[in-house]
Amino acid sequence: MQVWKEYQEQNKERFLNELLDLLRIPSVSARTENNADTAKCAEEVKKRMIEAGADNVEVCPTAGHPIVYGEKMMDATKPTVLVYGHYDVQPADPLELWTSPPFEPVIKDGKIYARGSADDKGQFYMHVKAFETMMKTNTLPCNVKFMIEGEEEVGSNNLGIFLEKNKAKLKADVVLVSDTSMISMENPSLEAGLRGLAYMEVEVVGPNKDLHSGVYGGAVANPATILAKMIASLHDENNHITIPGFYDDVLELTAAERAEMAKTPFNLDEYKKDLGINEVWGEKGFSTIERTGIRPTMEVNGIWGGYTGEGAKTVLPSKANAKISMRLVPNQKSETISNLFKAHFEKIAPPYVTVKVTAHHGGEPVVTPTDSIAYKAAHKAIETTFGKSPIPTRGGGSIPIVALFESVLGLKTVLMGFGLDSDGLHSPNEHYHVFNYYKGIETIPYFMQYFAEMSK
Ligand code: BES
Ligand code: MN
Ligand code: MN
Repeated sequence: MQVWKEYQEQNKERFLNELLDLLRIPSVSARTENNADTAKCAEEVKKRMIEAGADNVEVCPTAGHPIVYGEKMMDATKPTVLVYGHYDVQPADPLELWTSPPFEPVIKDGKIYARGSADDKGQFYMHVKAFETMMKTNTLPCNVKFMIEGEEEVGSNNLGIFLEKNKAKLKADVVLVSDTSMISMENPSLEAGLRGLAYMEVEVVGPNKDLHSGVYGGAVANPATILAKMIASLHDENNHITIPGFYDDVLELTAAERAEMAKTPFNLDEYKKDLGINEVWGEKGFSTIERTGIRPTMEVNGIWGGYTGEGAKTVLPSKANAKISMRLVPNQKSETISNLFKAHFEKIAPPYVTVKVTAHHGGEPVVTPTDSIAYKAAHKAIETTFGKSPIPTRGGGSIPIVALFESVLGLKTVLMGFGLDSDGLHSPNEHYHVFNYYKGIETIPYFMQYFAEMSK
């Protein structure tokens, strides 16, 4: 629409500068030393929502970081879109690998470099600016509710409670989320599913204290060696996960569905080159896209034990630890998989050590419908602004709260993300393309318009 275009063109620079200001706040949810920053960020989001034209804007306290809520109820007979996003970010370390400081955003080669630029500040803020566009041009075609949380990167535990307590307040027709990736700007796509997560921590304990590795080595099992062996045994020679029952609930795709998936544009050579690897790796019998989209996987996120400081210290460590996560697909259940992991890991422990297995946060996998009015509206909106039909994809990442939108609020979600997998989410030098930021702001009002029209 011409009025939107004009408004956005006139306010382009301010839209960008406002995002840069938001990126300067280190709202790292995992770190208590950043709690004041995280709280400040919530207040800032509140202020921006009010300025954009939302009503009843509030910072809702939780047992953890607050949730920012705001709404614009135009007319009870019109449909309501609940926009979800998160203002918290992952820790920025390793800091030495950033080419510019993570909380001092810079624009280089058309990209905004900062922690949270793509995940998710740059993406949820597109919604605030799209909303402002419609408010200031008197064109908002439906009701909008915003729920921007501060704990997505640490598992959204308190948001689950918030949903339970605020079912009436959050009444809507659909949830709209921009916190996922597209294939590329040339190949726009819409994620139609997210994987679930089961996150475990293990400790392998041997002798009751660190020992001299010459005096005791060779006679007492080394927990680091045992842990390494135990972890290695969790995949077989075909890279299948060896935990008994692990695949029992996995929903297999039909040959036709897999054939459809195989049409997704994907360049293996570029993929390898981007990542600096000679070969890809993964479960035998599945393509790279399938391995990250429709298959469950297991990763060691961290492993430690013994001496890791400067120089050499000859020691046989008393214990070794690892953080191990599993990505889940429909119809696996996070709790079931956690239990299977725990039972298996305890069972494979040799008698020379004792193991302790604990579960961290988890989340359930989701598949979002591609035949709903909301999905069709998103499809048409992207077609309008990209001049190309978006391809449905299955995302490898997780947004645990999405499953609860369905189970607690009875709402389906549309995942209309504008990031790219190569944006460096959770990595050093995270960035978001300025082009994508503006494209998102341009596309969202069309979603609202089409959704309102198609809902009639
Ligand atoms: N935005 C991501 C999830 C994502 C990224 C989905 C790219 C699809 C494509 C989200 O912020 C995230 O990082 N989620 C975590 C899970 C959470 C419980 C820490 C994840 O996927 O590791
Ligand atoms: Mn995110
Ligand atoms: Mn994230």
